[in-house]
Amino acid sequence: MKSRLSLVVSVIVLFASIAAFAAPAVLLPKGYRSWKKSERKVVTDKSSLFYGIHYIYADTKAMKGYQAGNRFAEGSRIIVEHFNIKGNPAVDGPKNMVVMMRKDKRFQKTGGWQFSGFGANGKPSGIDPVATCFGCHLKDASQRDFVISTVKDFK
Ligand code: HEC
Repeated sequence: MKSRLSLVVSVIVLFASIAAFAAPAVLLPKGYRSWKKSERKVVTDKSSLFYGIHYIYADTKAMKGYQAGNRFAEGSRIIVEHFNIKGNPAVDGPKNMVVMMRKDKRFQKTGGWQFSGFGANGKPSGIDPVATCFGCHLKDASQRDFVISTVKDFK
């Protein structure tokens, strides 16, 4: 019985490490809600991906980058939490997604940023960052280190 249990445990450990190796899932950093938070932003254009209400969170490095006119140091992290719009005037409905950009020079195809998307539960949504994310950031902010918001959003 004991040996069977340890076999089960080793199989689980083996599969867990294969899974970790196959998909180096990006996790949402714990405690990001204590980072610097932007004003509440409401987008009422239903054709926009950002339709709804959102808040931007920036860590200490990212805040320095915003203050330097959008020039960000390696490791800077910016997160956006999105909520549905409820009613009129708009109040925050349920959360619907979370996105993150992390400055990482290995990700040259997306401007030196790692883009990742998460569901409302914080689990990775498996989006393709090149196809899904980078287009708008390249178009709107190629002169601002691909970060569309500016320090003004944090006043
Ligand atoms: C339809 C265009 C569009 C697409 C596609 C898009 N974004 Fe954005 N993103 C924006 C806009 C516009 C802002 C600025 C929002 C603001 O100023 O409040 C933004 C802001 C952000 C920010 C905050 C930093 C910044 O650039 O202002 C992050 C992080 C982010 N997006 C990540 C992502 C991720 C990850 C994806 C892919 C899942 C993605 N975005 C896809 C338009 C887009």
